[in-house]
Amino acid sequence: MFTNDLVSQNISGHEPYIPGRQPKLNAETIKLNTNENPYPPSPLISDGLHEHIDNLRLYPDSSCEELRNSIAQLHSVDPDEVIIGNGSDDILNLCTRCFSDVSKPIGFFEPSYSLYNVLGSLQGCPVKKIPFQDNTFEIKNDLVSKSKTNLFFITSPHAPTGRTYENSLFSSILKNYRGILVIDEAYADFASTNAINLLKESERLIITRTLSKSYSLAGLRVGYGLGSKKIISVLNRAREVYNVDRIAQYIAWVALNDRDYFSETKTKIINSREKLYSKFKEWGWDTYKSGANFLFTRPVDNNGNSGKDIAQSLFNFLQHHQIFTRYFPAHILTEPYLRISIGKEREMDMLVTKLIQWQTKDLQV
Ligand SMILES: Cc1ncc(COP(=O)(O)O)c(C=O)c1O
Repeated sequence: MFTNDLVSQNISGHEPYIPGRQPKLNAETIKLNTNENPYPPSPLISDGLHEHIDNLRLYPDSSCEELRNSIAQLHSVDPDEVIIGNGSDDILNLCTRCFSDVSKPIGFFEPSYSLYNVLGSLQGCPVKKIPFQDNTFEIKNDLVSKSKTNLFFITSPHAPTGRTYENSLFSSILKNYRGILVIDEAYADFASTNAINLLKESERLIITRTLSKSYSLAGLRVGYGLGSKKIISVLNRAREVYNVDRIAQYIAWVALNDRDYFSETKTKIINSREKLYSKFKEWGWDTYKSGANFLFTRPVDNNGNSGKDIAQSLFNFLQHHQIFTRYFPAHILTEPYLRISIGKEREMDMLVTKLIQWQTKDLQV
């Protein structure tokens, strides 16, 4: 007989990560809730795929050498400073496995990516959540050094606001903080800054990236980490040896090397983001300047009202019309806002049309 006392202590009280909703798609659905890329991945990925399917009988290259070489070249680092993961979540998980335990706490600012808390709970380590002081989502560097943590996660561009941070902030954090700093750059390809240059300054910095967003490969599950050789060799000790399958290594390699397609789709997304941002500003909706593929905006209704109920009502209205966005009611800093992923131009036009309808009071549901 199975009884709950057989379950490990960490798992018994553990609350798993809740991913964004994946609704059944139909021709009318506009899915803007999980920051996926609206464009298909590089058309080159299907060339040669058959050969890799035939080779599925063989285990993949456990070190992902070719993919690591390409990533190393892209960022001008050594291939031994790169680790590939089953999504960047895998790398964030490895960081927690390797650099935290009961006497080595992890820390992060709240609200940010909710997975960090889940990873800490799984690991059974103390978790220090440092609240953002206000809706500027500014980071004071001494908060990290005073956190008495061994591992600290910062999301940059920040989620869910999309705001970016200067490298001078990270430099000063690295000077004062003794632990391992992880900068989660899941959205950095859509921003004008990133922290890659800082890798030269510190052996205790890890940068995580993903192919889920800017390369349109959320379904493939490939992400990577960049850090000093010492850090990467520690992470490799905990990595499942075949964490990235053959097909994923091949497709990721092709997509990564198709720079023209990458730039083309990225530019389209950034242009659409800026157009939507201007629209929100024109309407007087407080919206964060975003370095990501989403906007975080505070909807205002026709009577000039905004706040939790208004955001919830717009979220419901859009969902009723098959437009899925993300609403975070659990935190005071996020409850008056909606997070809207950037879709195709046509989808953004349809969204704007619906938002105008919503602002006409009698049409609200
Ligand atoms: C801030 C942040 N980091 C990491 C991830 C995970 O990305 P991946 O698909 O590579 O696991 C996400 C996914 O939404 C994210 O928002």
